[in-house]
Parts: sequence; structure tokens; C-alpha cells
Amino acid sequence: MSYAGQAPYPLTRFRRLRQSAQVRDLVRENTLTTGDLIWPVFVRDGEGVEEPVTSMPGVVRRSVDKIVEAAREAADLGIPVICLFPYTDPSLKTKDCAEAWNPDNLSNRATKAIRDAGIEIAIMSDVALDPYNIDGHDGFVEGGKILNDETVEALVKQALSQAEAGVDIIGPSDMMDGRIGAMRRVLEENGHKDVMLMSYSAKYASAFYGPFRDAVGASGNLKGDKKSYQMDPANSDEAMRLIERDLSEGADMVMVKPGMPYLDICRRVKERFAVPTFAYQVSGEYAMIQAAAQNGWIDGHKAMLESLMCFKRAGCDGVLTYFAPEVARVLNNG
Ligand code: PBG
Repeated sequence: MSYAGQAPYPLTRFRRLRQSAQVRDLVRENTLTTGDLIWPVFVRDGEGVEEPVTSMPGVVRRSVDKIVEAAREAADLGIPVICLFPYTDPSLKTKDCAEAWNPDNLSNRATKAIRDAGIEIAIMSDVALDPYNIDGHDGFVEGGKILNDETVEALVKQALSQAEAGVDIIGPSDMMDGRIGAMRRVLEENGHKDVMLMSYSAKYASAFYGPFRDAVGASGNLKGDKKSYQMDPANSDEAMRLIERDLSEGADMVMVKPGMPYLDICRRVKERFAVPTFAYQVSGEYAMIQAAAQNGWIDGHKAMLESLMCFKRAGCDGVLTYFAPEVARVLNNG
């Protein structure tokens, strides 16, 4: 046999290290564990309610009592963080978004209920006005424009109300300028020294958020798009400047969002800043995998595991994913 003038055998056989499950285990560079997972859940009014989200098969909106059950289940599975997103009754959506800092709004009630139940899980909350805004935007709208500084003042009140309710991690997902510094200052001034900020620093104006907007009931309200505050998917250097800014203003951890189409950003962030870096595998990414799986076009189970491992390989310390409980069950059962 001939290797075109070379030695009659390959000089390097990479396949040696892929020959068996044991050897592959031995040389594997990355691992996925339950400790890498943050589980986003949707909270709604009522009692005993678990209402399916049509565009996200397997995902439900839960009333507060069911959220407590979910938090207990997550803790038992070894998931370290649960992240709350409210589905606000349309009658509570206003121009001034005052429900956002109501100490008894859905998100704060769910936080207190999980705390009161004594469940050992970290609670993360979302800061942005869209669940409470009659205009569906993350900030105040005036004359078709999103107001930055006025919005930051409101976001600070929202963040403080979440801290008082007992959250551990605040996740500002609004993309206004200056909000991390403003929140950090007010948290410190009010004695919330240990509350962590996970900044959605590189959040893109993405088509992959569609199912989420249905899940929180924001799609009907939203006029126009979010391109004047969320990032252009064409940009990467800009993400570096945003991360640098948010870290300098007091962010403890940073997030890239969406996830799978933005793994290059995750890699750049991790290499450049070496800080705790997270990605959000958003609703549209989840829906794509579930829809293809339901049609029998891909193996959903394997696609879920592969997609999550790829976040780790890209440099992420963890992933926000709607798959969290399902993948935790798989990881726990081997
Ligand atoms: C809004 C917010 C969005 C998501 C999380 N927080 C949607 C948006 O920016 O319109 C999307 C999450 C997902 O798609 O899973 N503050």
C-alpha cells in the first residue's frame, strides 16, 4: 500500500485516543455538571397552576406555590441557581412601570416564598422594565425613543426591591448605559453588600427571543424593535468594551446572550477578562431543538447534551438553560 511517497502508515494516529469510552473519558478536556446550570422559570398568578407555554414544549408558567416546588426539585437535583421571570397580568402594565419595584410583585413574592421555605438554592432575578411596560420595551419610551437615564433610575428601584425580597444574584438584562454602577452604589448604600450582579453585558438584538416574549406575555405590547439598546449581531469588539465597562462598574459575573450563535463572543470574553462568564441558551434555541426533536428530525436528548457541552468548551463557566432540570436528571443518572 502507498501513502503517496510517505511512510506506509500515518505518523500520528489521533484515533488511538478515541478508541474506547474509557480512553475518551481519560482525555476529555471539558465536563458538564449540574453545578454549571442556571434554570430560568416563569412565574404567574394563581395557585396550583402549571400552564404550558405553547412555543416552548416542556416549559410551563407556574404559580408561586408551584415555583417553590420547582425550586425544591432543582435544589435536590443539584442545580445551584433558579432564575425568576414574571408573567405579569396585563392590567398591571403601565407607562410608569411602577409594578417593577412593587415589593409584592410576582417576582418578589416568589423570591420570598422560596426563602421562607428554607430551600438551599441561589435565587436570581431579572432587571428590565419589559414585563411591566405597556410599551413592551425594557426602558421608558417617549416619542418613540427609549430614555436611558430615567430608565436607569427605575431599574435601580427594581433591583433594590429584589434585593430586599432576598435574591442572591441580580441579572440586569436591559442594556441601558450606566445601570451596573448605579445599582452597585445603591445596593452598597442599603447594606446589600453580598448581592451579586450578573450583567447581561453582551446582549444582542436577536430573533431568538420570540418564544420568551410569548412566555412573559410581552410580544403583544412591543412596538418596534430593541435595536437602539441591544447589540448588533454583527459586532464583537463592542462586546469587549461593554464587558470591560460593566466589570469596572461593579459586575461580579457577565453574560453573553443568546448562546449558541454567539460562542465566539463567549470565547473572547473568557480569554480576555478571565472572569466568571455565562451564556443564555435562549428560548428560540430551546424551541428549535425541541421542535426538531418532536418531528423526529434530531435526537433531542443528544442535541441538548451536546449544545450544553459546547458552551463549556467555548469557555463558559455555566449556562442559563430551560433544559436545566432535564439535563440535571440525565447527569445524575449517568
Ligand atoms: C428582557 C428579556 C428577554 C429575555 C430575557 N430577558 C427578551 C428580550 O430582550 O426581549 C429573553 C430570554 C429568552 O429568549 O429565553 N429583558
